[in-house]
Amino acid sequence: MAITILDHPLASDLLTILRSRETNPPDFRQTAERLGYLLVAEALSDMPTDPVEIMTPLEPMTGQQLHRPVVAVAVLRAGLGLLQSVLSLVPDAAIGFAGVQRNEETAEPMEYYTKFPTLVDARVLILEPMLATGGSLSWAIDKVKENGANDITAVCVVIAPEGVDRMKDDHPDVRIVAASLDRELNPNYYIAPGLGDMGDRLFGTV
Ligand code: URA
Repeated sequence: MAITILDHPLASDLLTILRSRETNPPDFRQTAERLGYLLVAEALSDMPTDPVEIMTPLEPMTGQQLHRPVVAVAVLRAGLGLLQSVLSLVPDAAIGFAGVQRNEETAEPMEYYTKFPTLVDARVLILEPMLATGGSLSWAIDKVKENGANDITAVCVVIAPEGVDRMKDDHPDVRIVAASLDRELNPNYYIAPGLGDMGDRLFGTV
């Protein structure tokens, strides 16, 4: 399984803002979106391009355009924090949603909503910022594969070794792009040092 951890001073700077408990929800959302640009750019870095004939103001030339389609599937609700980054970079990306709630006692995923566009032959970006146990991500990948996806990249902010192991077992064909591989899961299944509950920090819930 391929894992790419961003190696860029901007990513480190933005992730530090996200990690700080002093960062309020508006700043957290804006910073997550900014970090999302770097993550999505990396997740699309191996995308083929197609030649396209254009006219510059001076002369005709052959340019390159991103091969389509691109689909983003936001794992609710934390994945919404990276959605605008995809839409800003690839405005015609189709969007799906995977609604899954973590059972707080077992940390296993419980589905409550799914809606996908056509996934066949698309680059599918699964937006799952916190790869903790890997239960939600593995479940979401099962779902998109059932619906025809065969080119899948998980876009994460922070990943834990336990989640990576789970992904190696369940979905070795999926690439992971993240800003950090953190130390461990704590007994409450939070990533440490982590950044807390991504959904709560995005939306100001407690
Ligand atoms: N989900 C989160 O939002 N944070 C964690 O640390 C783990 C799972």
